Amino acid sequence: MSVAKRDLGERKVTTHRLIEMKQRGEKISMLTAYDYSMARIIDEAGMDVILVGDSASNVMAGNTTTLPITLDQMIYHGKSVMKAVKRALVGVDLPFGSYQGNSKEAISSAIRVMKETHADFIKLEGGSEVRESIERILCAGIPVMGHLGLTPQSINKFGTYTVRAKEESEARKLISDAHLLEEIGCFAIVIEKIPAELTTRIASELTIPIIGIGAGKGADGQVLVMHDMLGITEGFSPRFLRRYANLKEIITSAVQSYIEDVKRQDFPNEKEQY
Ligand code: KIV
Repeated sequence: MSVAKRDLGERKVTTHRLIEMKQRGEKISMLTAYDYSMARIIDEAGMDVILVGDSASNVMAGNTTTLPITLDQMIYHGKSVMKAVKRALVGVDLPFGSYQGNSKEAISSAIRVMKETHADFIKLEGGSEVRESIERILCAGIPVMGHLGLTPQSINKFGTYTVRAKEESEARKLISDAHLLEEIGCFAIVIEKIPAELTTRIASELTIPIIGIGAGKGADGQVLVMHDMLGITEGFSPRFLRRYANLKEIITSAVQSYIEDVKRQDFPNEKEQY
């Protein structure tokens, strides 16, 4: 469906609208954002869902994994994004260590995120292992998006970022976790880096939207990390990543022109001073 044909009015995207989109076969667009200025551009471009992902740990803070980012830091990013967004549905990732310990800790982390950022939902990683935490968060009326497949907060258990659920037993667990998340009340699930066939099967069995990243065409929507799709990150080129711009090249060239203009005393010129 072309951007012109879609409803890009001021009407806020809701969790209910995402389910309607799945029902009528309209694919859901989702992208990460971490700051006010970029969130405003992404929202005005017509994105359906903006995720304040814990990938902020990598692309904003320069860490090699998502593990070090704190709840306070996620709330800081969430607040900045929420100030900019008018239309998109916005979610904030619960960071590593803020919900796995017990359900009491999980609910207090989720409540802090919702109270302090005014986001629309939280996302967290895992299936049956975190069932109690998810149920408690849902009981407080907070919408939850699940995250299965490659779950980067468990990278130290996996040991690698390769495709998940290629083995029969892991695929069976993934299918059963996806059904569990739907049954207990999650409104959507991100599924990361699994075989396309498995995604198609899960998306057809579930009524809630499946948002894929490296999970093939069969998902009900797609999500990418903003810095990756805009060509800002380097040294990361998995098969699933389509780069829509080379901002690194554009920014480098603009910055070099500025340096040159300053050095040769061309900037500022007569008109650019008071
Ligand atoms: O943190 C993140 O950016 C994510 C997306 C990759 C889904 O969880």
